[in-house]
Amino acid sequence: MIRVLVLPGSTRTDAFSKRLARAAAKLVEQAGAQATFADLRDHAMPLYDGDLEAAEGVPEAALRLRKAMQSHDALLVVSPEYNASIPAVLKNAIDWLSRPYAAEPGVSPFKNKVAALLSSSPGALGGLRGLVHLRQILQNLGMLVISEQFALGNAGGAFAPDGSLADGKQAAGVAAVVQRLVQVAGRLAG
Ligand SMILES: Cc1cc2nc3c(=O)[nH]c(=O)nc-3n(C[C@H](O)[C@H](O)[C@H](O)COP(=O)(O)O)c2cc1C
Repeated sequence: MIRVLVLPGSTRTDAFSKRLARAAAKLVEQAGAQATFADLRDHAMPLYDGDLEAAEGVPEAALRLRKAMQSHDALLVVSPEYNASIPAVLKNAIDWLSRPYAAEPGVSPFKNKVAALLSSSPGALGGLRGLVHLRQILQNLGMLVISEQFALGNAGGAFAPDGSLADGKQAAGVAAVVQRLVQVAGRLAG
């Protein structure tokens, strides 16, 4: 079975991106794959610092996330938008994960893996501008980022009490991204 790691780009408890990630994880399962929710709050990392890296290596929280990436076939990132880009906490995690790990020389948790992007915002654009940057970053790390993506605008009113997306069109937009991700991951897995 295809395994999808669902990664919200916010640590906030009631984050819209976490709510969208949970709704998307259900859609992953409806698409016949397995979803794992990864919370960056459970993977607290120091800000990347070359001196710290030289002294202590890659932090344990980053290694756990690296292992999670390696044990999944696909990555679904659900990001807020900060100042028309991605939040520092998400970029910092990506930066640590991109660093060489002495125990696995030459092995990248990103390379040749497939990813899909979702965003959410209380604003009308849904965080769409941040996805441009996120796509570029992940592609630069060797990920195959599928072209389908979805930006959830006006996220404050988007969720039904059970956590699903209230609007059928929005739910269908997210489902289309998820289904394509599972399909491409399945083909890559052979
Ligand atoms: C530093 C900062 C910058 C922000 N910049 C944007 C922005 O460029 N576009 C946008 O739609 N919302 C922006 N917001 C508002 C966020 O979309 C809003 O706080 C959102 O709830 C954060 O995501 P979360 O709910 O997943 O934690 C910004 C918020 C913060 C704290």
